[in-house]
Amino acid sequence: MISREEFAQRRQRLMTETGDGSLVLLTSAGERLRNGDSHYPFRQDSDFHYLTGLDEPDAVLVLAPGRESGEQLLFLRPKNPEREQWDGPRLGLDGAREQLGMDDAFPISDLDDILPGLMEGVDRVFCLVGKDAQFDQRVIGWRNRLREKNKGQRGPAELISLEHLLHEQRLIKSSDEIRTMQKAARISAAAMRRAMQQCRPGRNEAEIHAELVHEYLSHGCTPAYMPIVAGGSNALVLHYIRNNAPLPDDGLLLIDAGGEYQNYAADISRTFPVSGRFSPAQRRVYEVVLAAQKAAIDEVRVGQPYDAFHTTAVRVLTEGLVELGLLDGEVESLIENQEYRRFYMHKTGHWLGLDVHDVGDYRIEGESRLLEANMVVTVEPGLYIGFDDDIPEEFRGIGVRIEDDIRVGRNGPDNLTDAVPREIADIEALMAA
Ligand code: GLY
Ligand code: MN
Ligand code: MN
Repeated sequence: MISREEFAQRRQRLMTETGDGSLVLLTSAGERLRNGDSHYPFRQDSDFHYLTGLDEPDAVLVLAPGRESGEQLLFLRPKNPEREQWDGPRLGLDGAREQLGMDDAFPISDLDDILPGLMEGVDRVFCLVGKDAQFDQRVIGWRNRLREKNKGQRGPAELISLEHLLHEQRLIKSSDEIRTMQKAARISAAAMRRAMQQCRPGRNEAEIHAELVHEYLSHGCTPAYMPIVAGGSNALVLHYIRNNAPLPDDGLLLIDAGGEYQNYAADISRTFPVSGRFSPAQRRVYEVVLAAQKAAIDEVRVGQPYDAFHTTAVRVLTEGLVELGLLDGEVESLIENQEYRRFYMHKTGHWLGLDVHDVGDYRIEGESRLLEANMVVTVEPGLYIGFDDDIPEEFRGIGVRIEDDIRVGRNGPDNLTDAVPREIADIEALMAA
């Protein structure tokens, strides 16, 4: 649980960085119509959530460092009993002050009237330039209104993207953020274990998908992204989300799924045999991916370049591909010529946080950035073997990915999702139980 104080500290810290004479503007996510009058489930924009904790559409946060009559302002929907009868409770203006700790709050409908005045005396406006073209236009419109009103006043000279400052802040997780991510990880791990236990020949991908969702919803999570439940060679489709085919009796099942808890995501992949027992060929491929994952996780350490764990995974996978007879040649040159990409075409991980692919730069001035304590990454090597004639029959159609969520700990890698078995013996034991 992120405290009201922590949300306020985040705003304070951002204002310290943008400085006096600046104005920060940030919009909430909007509601999206699915069809008729039915909407997609509302999911707050992660940046907006990070700075406000408000879970409503139609809101704009304004930070005005140094403004004497209040620095932290929220425009949002006022209370409206009639609308709340249809759509549920709103926080309202008093709630924004009392529960979110804003200095002041205004109806969202007053934004156009009030905003030009807030720009008076401001040099620099920070917003997520380019994220929402309509909002960018409104910002320019407010500046023009200010110019018209105060002849001779130029208004803010600079429109600066907030992205870098805000996303660097989000990249390093606080202890309460880590606790929240641990909770997302625990629930997501339980869901993956449940899927393993419920998996057996004769079932359909959709039934396993339902088991995952059952576990998320029962424990306060929603899916952090559309789960991938891919039986047999469906696993070769990296973004497979149809999830509606019968499970192959003798095939593997690749699941890539995680829940989000209080907006923080987990992201786990496991691959296991539908029958509960790995075949010799499946076992050989699986062991290569597992070895790559273990070696890669060991690189997730303070001071290591971000790229190191990917480089390590590629090396172990390429060595394994040679041993399996799927690649032929010197490991060095197979890596240099990216021949492994025929079987491993994605990166080994990404930042994890409020977004599944979380924000933050991976490179600084062209160089892979160094890992710092309390960054969180996924480590997710895989192998995806097609049906080409030159591939030994026993390996055709096998797709394996193993993914865990790793916190960069001061004393080494901290696997948030290690409650899900990865070793073959442990997977087989859980499935047999
Ligand atoms: N689930 C998306 C990913 O693993 O990156
Ligand atoms: Mn994943
Ligand atoms: Mn991932």
